[in-house]
Amino acid sequence: MRYNETARKKAESLPLKKQAYVLGIETSCDETAAAVVQGGCVVLSNVIYTQIPLHRQYGGVVPELASRNHADQIGIVVREALDAAGLRKEDLDAIAVTCRPGLVGALLVGVCYAKALALAGGLPLLGVDHIHGHIAANYISHPALEPPFVSLVASGGHSHVLRVDSYDSYSLLGQTRDDAAGEAYDKAARALGLPYPGGPELEKLARGGDPNKYPFHSTLNESDDPDMSFSGIKTALVNLIANARARGEELFLPDIAASFQQAINKTLTHKALLHCREGDTLCLAGGVCANGHLRELLTRECAKRRVRFFAPAAPYRTDNAAMIAAQGYFHLMAGDLAGLDLSAAATK
Ligand code: KG4
Ligand code: ZN
Repeated sequence: MRYNETARKKAESLPLKKQAYVLGIETSCDETAAAVVQGGCVVLSNVIYTQIPLHRQYGGVVPELASRNHADQIGIVVREALDAAGLRKEDLDAIAVTCRPGLVGALLVGVCYAKALALAGGLPLLGVDHIHGHIAANYISHPALEPPFVSLVASGGHSHVLRVDSYDSYSLLGQTRDDAAGEAYDKAARALGLPYPGGPELEKLARGGDPNKYPFHSTLNESDDPDMSFSGIKTALVNLIANARARGEELFLPDIAASFQQAINKTLTHKALLHCREGDTLCLAGGVCANGHLRELLTRECAKRRVRFFAPAAPYRTDNAAMIAAQGYFHLMAGDLAGLDLSAAATK
């Protein structure tokens, strides 16, 4: 029997689909991650091996090094995830893997490993979009949550507002026209002399600063156009620092960090709430939701408008494989299986 037939038979014969054990694999950027999730929301294990120390010396992710390091770690991380869940490979019901978007060389490590596991075990293979995985992190932290809802996805590569129509269909409502929010955070942090990844460092620096000291205005961001732009704000910050240096002026960096953080987070909040009416639900997703200031702002503004607001719990905010397994589960439920020709793609 060919792989696809074996895998489909396995998917169809699951006695209690709701209890399915899905192994998730995530290697899209600088984290090698594996997790086992039961029934789309019960996390049995969530193992993350971060490459941050490896890339820090270069000030950003070096794609070639990322791929090689994923290849070194993937076997170890998957074994740890199975051990921590108390399961053997034979106990799994399906393998979910991030197949787009991301660094292609890095994605391919996870995709090839997942294909090998699926082929060897006769298991269904599920190809997951990383962004949809970030959204699914909310199902883990809020098991009663169900589509439809609006989602603000802010990560190192994306800033999107989407309507999640169902577990596997989405409508794009607005997006950044240039840099992603996380990318802007990272570039601004670098200009402030902070180490990679800059987002969390900038948030720490901002704690001692005045958010109203430097108004980083943007006509597009303050308008009701659904799209946003972050590269102008980032350039304004870079120029502010360069001009002060040229004049020999001392700047109080926490004020710059706090003002920048406020400009980015106000924009994200405004653009997400453009699509929310009283009684609607808004879910935050993507690595930037680790930013406490953003979550507080959204909590406050959603409460004012009587919009329900959800964000994933701490372990599921930045890249992880539990969110990939959670989203993979919904593909499994829908019978949306990938074949062994599953490939990796840099973009959506
Ligand atoms: O989702 P993620 O882990 O990886 C991608 O899919 O890109 O997001 C990483 C991004 C990085 O740009 C990082 O600087 C940003 O999320 N980030 C933060 C914070 N924590 C992570 N940005 C602002 N404040 C934070 N606390
Ligand atoms: Zn991510």
